[in-house]
Amino acid sequence: MRTWETKRHDQKAISFHYDVSNDFYALFLDTRMVYTCAYYRDPNGDLDQAQADKLDLVCRKLRLTPGDRLLDIGCGWGSLVVWAAERYGVEAYGVTLSAAQAEWAAAAIRRAGLEGRARVDHRDYRDLPPGLRFDKIAAVGVIEHIGIRNYAAYFARVHELLEPGGLFLNHGITHEKHWRRSSQTDFLERYVFPNGELDNVTHTLDVLERARFEVLDVEALRAHYARTTRQWVERLQANADRARALVSERVYRTWLLYLAAASVSFRQGSIGLYQVVAGRRDPAAVTAAPTTRESVYARAERPALARAS
Ligand SMILES: C[S@@+](CC[C@H](N)C(=O)[O-])C[C@H]1O[C@@H](n2cnc3c(N)ncnc32)[C@H](O)[C@@H]1O
Repeated sequence: MRTWETKRHDQKAISFHYDVSNDFYALFLDTRMVYTCAYYRDPNGDLDQAQADKLDLVCRKLRLTPGDRLLDIGCGWGSLVVWAAERYGVEAYGVTLSAAQAEWAAAAIRRAGLEGRARVDHRDYRDLPPGLRFDKIAAVGVIEHIGIRNYAAYFARVHELLEPGGLFLNHGITHEKHWRRSSQTDFLERYVFPNGELDNVTHTLDVLERARFEVLDVEALRAHYARTTRQWVERLQANADRARALVSERVYRTWLLYLAAASVSFRQGSIGLYQVVAGRRDPAAVTAAPTTRESVYARAERPALARAS
């Protein structure tokens, strides 16, 4: 039986997956500890560059401008919070259910000298105080943890947290068909990712629209995730001895199998990755987003580091 309903259960599931140890994740993630699909502008590019380009892509799609209040739901190790505050001059706030991630992110914010402009809390997004509002909201790799039947409540809460005219970017893994149990999902549920569930993109968009969002942009990045997960596998294998010493042979092999299976599934297309930008309608104004993608994809120089005030 699935017990999506309790926050305590979700907290335990997240700790199981993410609190394995920061040092273990550092053995295969990029230097900024981004744990979601990278964006390969160069199809043979390296992981660090592709993750930097992904962070930038998210910021551009959200049309971040200095002074914007950005909420990053499920911020992981804080990579987007730091990137957006540093390069786009926003006030960035992230929440994660993993204590280990929040600790790591706080240290990264201090190292970057961004206290006062960036913050990460160990907190469930459902516990954010009522009345809090943001101009932009990102949720990168979170929907996989939400549970399909909780989507309506999830999107309704995001809608409430967003200012009218604000933008929401949802980046998540999808399943080609409706989710159903198999030996693969049982393995993931038991050993890797308790409470994980994947939906198809059509249904996700339907629920998003029913939550009164306007869908503004949808982009498929499946091939990018096939390469990302493959690069994670190669890096983990290259660090096999250190991984075994840190987390045991069993956990090392379990993660290797899970990442390799994910890479094959992305390559074959049984799972996918979509970035969706949606807007909260503002009856008093036209939408904040321009009507073409040109400014998002223009190969302009990356924005200079914003000066700390
Ligand atoms: C796959 S990680 C992605 C992390 C980060 N966005 C990135 O791109 O590297 C998923 C994140 O969602 C967080 N998460 C899941 N459910 C959450 C909830 N109810 N409230 C806050 N964070 C949550 C996890 O703690 C984790 O940080």
